[in-house]
Order: sequence, then C-alpha cells, then structure tokens
Amino acid sequence: MTVRVVATREELAKARAELSGTVALVPTMGALHDGHVANIRAAKARADTVVVSIFVNPLQFGPNEDFEKYPRPLSADLELCAAEGVDLVFAPNREVVYPHEVSVTVDPGPLGEILEGASRPGFFRGVLTVVSKLFHLVRPDFACFGEKDYQQLTLVRRLVSDLDFPLEIVPVPTVRESDGLARSSRNVYLDTEQRAVSLAISRALKAAADSPDPLAAAREVLDAAPGIALDYLALTDPALGPAPETGAARLLIAAKVGTTRLIDNTPVHIGVK
Ligand code: PAF
Repeated sequence: MTVRVVATREELAKARAELSGTVALVPTMGALHDGHVANIRAAKARADTVVVSIFVNPLQFGPNEDFEKYPRPLSADLELCAAEGVDLVFAPNREVVYPHEVSVTVDPGPLGEILEGASRPGFFRGVLTVVSKLFHLVRPDFACFGEKDYQQLTLVRRLVSDLDFPLEIVPVPTVRESDGLARSSRNVYLDTEQRAVSLAISRALKAAADSPDPLAAAREVLDAAPGIALDYLALTDPALGPAPETGAARLLIAAKVGTTRLIDNTPVHIGVK
C-alpha cells in the first residue's frame, strides 16, 4: 500500500486539481502518532478526500529549541498515511515553503503573547504564518487540529475568522496513552523515569476536571510531584480569556521534565455543577 506524495508547489497544484469533492487538511510536522491518526480519521469523517502535510516549520522554533533534533521518520509517516487511507501527502522542503527570506508574517495578536507565547516568543507567529501558507496552497474545506495544543487551536480559529479564510476548523479531542500521558511527538525524548514523572501532569488535569476548584486541585497534585518544573498552570475561559467566576473553563499546564517541555489541558467547571 502506498500514498501519493508531492513535494513541490507545482506537483501539489496538479494533485489538488485532481482531488474531487471536499478536502480536509491535517497539518503536521511528521513523527506521526495516535494523536495524528485521530486527526486523520476526523478528516476522513468530514471530507471526501484527506491531505496530510508534513513539514517541520523552522519559523516556529526558537534559537535554543529542538528544530535540529525534532524527529523526522518520513518513511514510517508515509506508511501510516497509506494505512489510514490518506489521499495525498504534501511533504515540502524548506525552500519550497520559504523560497525567499520571510518578511511578512502573521501577527497572532495579544493571545499569542500569553502562555506558550510568553515562554516561546515568536512561536505562534511561526505557526500562523505556515498554517496560512498551507491553507493557501492546499485550499482545504476543513482543517483538523488537536485539542492538546489548545492555544494553537484557539489561535488558528481566530486566524480563520479574523482573516476570512474560507474553511472550517475541526477540533479533535486529545489522544492519551493508557496511563493518561497525552500523545506527543516529543514523548520520545523522555526516558523511563521521566515518563513516569510526567504522568503527574495528566493526574493534575484529571483532579482538576473532577473538582469545583480546578486550580487548587491541580496545584495540589503538581506540588506533590518531584521532578516537574512547572512553567505555567493557568485557568482561563474556553476562549483563553480571563476565567469566569463559575461555569465552563479551561485548565492548561506546561512543564519541563528533564529538558523536555510538555503541555496539556482539559475542560473544567468552576463551582458546583
Ligand atoms: O501542531 C503542529 O504540528 C504544528 O504547529 C503545525 C500546526 C503543523 C504547524 O507547523
């Protein structure tokens, strides 16, 4: 079983013209796992054809981040795409996506400055810029993004609504390992001990989701967890604005375990339901 792969803009334009019906895009940086599989399946459920893009976007990595060592198992990724019945993979290199020095980029606005944006300056500018380019090049009717990267999902929704991109964003629930760890391409960096330590993050989220005081419940779990260097524990409204006094909210965590930065989040309810 194989999947059609294109790498240049010309090949993509030709292949796109041959796709019939509605198209769903699953943008990825490769190193595909069950979380991506969930996105691909959500795409298949929505549209007649599914395009997966695989591109490790240099614009969203800071100078001291893991751009060089980011896993790039392309043949395994293509096998997975073939097995999932993906219609087309767009796997360009850097020169195809950024043929000349980037000058104009997409400003994520104030929402891009908080949480991940505060810890990773320029990250969302890089994400929204490449996502905009992918939307223009692939012209999908739908694009699927995992809820694990909740701030990214929220900002991509704002991008589409504020800049009038003619497509619908499909959110896909987070996929977890059986022990609760959210699936992420960066989990491969964790050794056995670090992996065990990192479970405090999903435990904290579970405690928060079950409590009328989500912040306190999560903090209690994290405070008791050795080896977790918390970056932020934040309670917001579902659109990442200030948390309401009561009602639906979102709890987000970012923490370092060893040198690996992990993020996760959950819907919560403030107050008694
Ligand atoms: O979530 C990711 O893998 C990346 O941020 C994305 C959306 C593919 C843009 O490079």
